Amino acid sequence: MKRSTTNRITTVTLNAAIDKTYYVPALDKGKVTRAEKVLSTAGGKGLNVARVLRQLGHAEVTATGFASGYNGQFITNRVKEAGIRSEFIEATGESRLCLNFIDGRDGSSTEVLEPGPTVSGEQIALFRDKLARLSAESSLVVFSGSLPGGMAADAYAELIALSRAAGADVFLDTSGEALVRGIAAKPTFIKPNEDELAALLPEGGSSDLRESLQKLMGQGLPIVVATLGAQGAVAGVDGRLYRIRIPKLQVVNTVGSGDSFVAGYAFAHVRGEAPADCLRYAAATGSANALTQTTGDVNLSDVHKLLSDISVEEWL
Ligand SMILES: Nc1ncnc2c1ncn2[C@@H]1O[C@H](COP(=O)(O)OP(=O)(O)OP(=O)(O)O)[C@@H](O)[C@H]1O
Ligand SMILES: [Mg+2]
Repeated sequence: MKRSTTNRITTVTLNAAIDKTYYVPALDKGKVTRAEKVLSTAGGKGLNVARVLRQLGHAEVTATGFASGYNGQFITNRVKEAGIRSEFIEATGESRLCLNFIDGRDGSSTEVLEPGPTVSGEQIALFRDKLARLSAESSLVVFSGSLPGGMAADAYAELIALSRAAGADVFLDTSGEALVRGIAAKPTFIKPNEDELAALLPEGGSSDLRESLQKLMGQGLPIVVATLGAQGAVAGVDGRLYRIRIPKLQVVNTVGSGDSFVAGYAFAHVRGEAPADCLRYAAATGSANALTQTTGDVNLSDVHKLLSDISVEEWL
């Protein structure tokens, strides 16, 4: 692992969004509903990682990707307010809105997600140049989330190679084809959840988690963590297998717990912590996110309290 003088972490969000949550008394199809409360946050998985890194106390965090139009302006303003350096490229059109309607009757959530703008070849070229520059001044680059229209399915593999060549270590957290193609570039860390893990291996993978982890490590991936929601996680790090167990919690909102897990792992990893300690810190951060209402939001006191309740054992 690279030991650079800088400890900057750059997160990449290629399809940044405004997450809007509408709290409505009742959501009925074909009827008018008046919202009681609306919350707007800068969203996209990489931005969740960036925000949580700052909350954990990591000082030097940069966020990059594409942010467009008025919505892009809102996103970059929020990023700066969170103490994150904003280095987004403007694409044509408007960054997407992701709407979530919370029904007051049962708390159920109904989402409507915009596709977001398609990026041009010229904008991608500008982004590549920026990423090379940011990677050279970062110890770690974290790629998260889906690819925008206009980018090829193997885009992550190319961007990972670019960041590596500039001297940064690389994490990748995405799904589907972007993940399958992205792992060809052998990112240092991947964190599929159960669905993503199944999609990653031929024929939906093996029902045996050990075998799945071993197979992926065998492909030259040094750190593979399969997160299992309330069941914690299992991991393969540098040839060894680990089981991570978490306490039963009164959860409020688990959306973004995976992103928070990634942030926790990154935080410990750039500080040179041992794998078991990185895993414990990651799980505490992921679980702390589940205790707050907002997506990608942790209280440091929750993280510290959870650390002693999480068990990390070598899985022999
Ligand atoms: N119900 C829960 N109770 C306690 N901890 C949880 C719960 N759900 C998630 N976590 C914590 O967060 C980690 C990641 O969760 P999960 O496997 O759901 O990620 P994910 O599906 O990638 O989430 P997302 O992509 O929405 O951020 C878990 O390993 C665990 O530490
Ligand atoms: Mg996830």
